[in-house]
Amino acid sequence: MESIQSIKQRFEIIGNDLKLNRAIEKAIQVAPTDISVLVTGESGVGKESIPKIIHSLSHRKHAKYIAVNCGAIPEGTIDSELFGHEKGAFTGATQTRSGYFEVADGGTIFLDEVGELPLTTQVRLLRVLENGEFLKVGSSQVQKTNVRIVAATNINMFEAIKKEKFREDLYYRLSTVEINIPPLRERKEDIHLLFRKFASDFGQKYKMPTIRLEEDAVQLLLKYRWPGNIRQLRNIAEQVSVLEEKRNISLGTLNSYLPNAGDSNLPAVIKKDKKEGDFSSEREILYKVLFDMKGDLNDLKKLTLELLKNDNGEKVQEENETLIRKIYGSNGENNLKDEEEEAMEVLQLPEPKIENHPPTNISPIQEDKYHFAEEIEEEETLSLQEKEIELIKKSLERNRGKRKAAAAELGISERTLYRKIKQYDL
Ligand SMILES: Nc1ncnc2c1ncn2[C@@H]1O[C@H](COP(=O)(O)OP(=O)(O)OP(=O)(O)O)[C@@H](O)[C@H]1O
Ligand SMILES: [Mg+2]
Repeated sequence: MESIQSIKQRFEIIGNDLKLNRAIEKAIQVAPTDISVLVTGESGVGKESIPKIIHSLSHRKHAKYIAVNCGAIPEGTIDSELFGHEKGAFTGATQTRSGYFEVADGGTIFLDEVGELPLTTQVRLLRVLENGEFLKVGSSQVQKTNVRIVAATNINMFEAIKKEKFREDLYYRLSTVEINIPPLRERKEDIHLLFRKFASDFGQKYKMPTIRLEEDAVQLLLKYRWPGNIRQLRNIAEQVSVLEEKRNISLGTLNSYLPNAGDSNLPAVIKKDKKEGDFSSEREILYKVLFDMKGDLNDLKKLTLELLKNDNGEKVQEENETLIRKIYGSNGENNLKDEEEEAMEVLQLPEPKIENHPPTNISPIQEDKYHFAEEIEEEETLSLQEKEIELIKKSLERNRGKRKAAAAELGISERTLYRKIKQYDL
């Protein structure tokens, strides 16, 4: 019997969780039989590799393997897709057509999202499972087939039975053996392993250095609920790999990508031994930016004073060359750091309360910097955040959810808007 380890390699299954290993072991054990298997588990847990393992380890491996997504086929055509139809069976049936059960004779059919099958199709399926018999749509001639069925579902089948959406007899026929794949949140040891694997894959795919999570970000990864399981983890690894310029990912950054991270009964993460330049949240970044801005502001004040006292502009420029370069950047470009740019975009959203009129010889972006630096207080930050959420919501509504247009209207980059939407779960 092939080992669990070699199966994992062959089917690119990552993880060492005991329950996952048990599921793979069960698949290996039932593979040589013709027993029907029902694979259960939440969306995105990795159910689709189980029927492939079963087929490839069975005596049917040289015959056909057909995967059918029952939820994706319209109700009106599913019987014809599965069982075929006779010429003239319905409008448009210009030819006799074979269905999957005929084509896969001797092989395996994977019925994904089996809970979505219409009740009439369920009756036909029960018959095939019981004695291998079926009828083409529009035909009265019984045909025989020898097909192994593996089905999968992410819905609660008992609920579906209770609501009379799924036949109880079919459920028991399909689930002679049930293989359950546990949700990712119950496979703690695998979470970071999977993340590192995906991060490395996406680093290669996008030709960028692989992202790496800081320790407290790893803790968040482990505590998050992962409602979309491995599919979601993979998507997040991809988003962070593509969107983040810094390759060291902090807790705050990761948090902004996780929807409803705050609702997951997470204990507050307390940062210990904070080093300089080490941020754990957006608010900390804001504070850092504000301190820097305060420094800039003092420098600007000095410069303005010089200008007021002295009307020889060139001389002032010569004497304050270092200061000017520091404030305006080399070649006169605004070379603000990334976090600063993002913070600026946040700050431009709410109307700043103007108490002190800034000097008139600075650009609008610096005016905002100036006001905010003078007035920031913690409570105010919170109410600004509420205002910001309000503004984003309204803009998204006005622009019918079109992020590009909303971002332009709000005067922020699309990337920042995307982050905000995630952060505030809009
Ligand atoms: N253990 C794993 N190692 C690596 N990748 C995995 C693993 N499990 C799942 N994946 C990947 O996660 C994604 C989702 O898996 P899959 O399509 O099998 O989910 P599912 O359980 O069928 O979900 P749904 O019920 O929504 O159809 C796929 O891209 C799959 O390759
Ligand atoms: Mg699936």
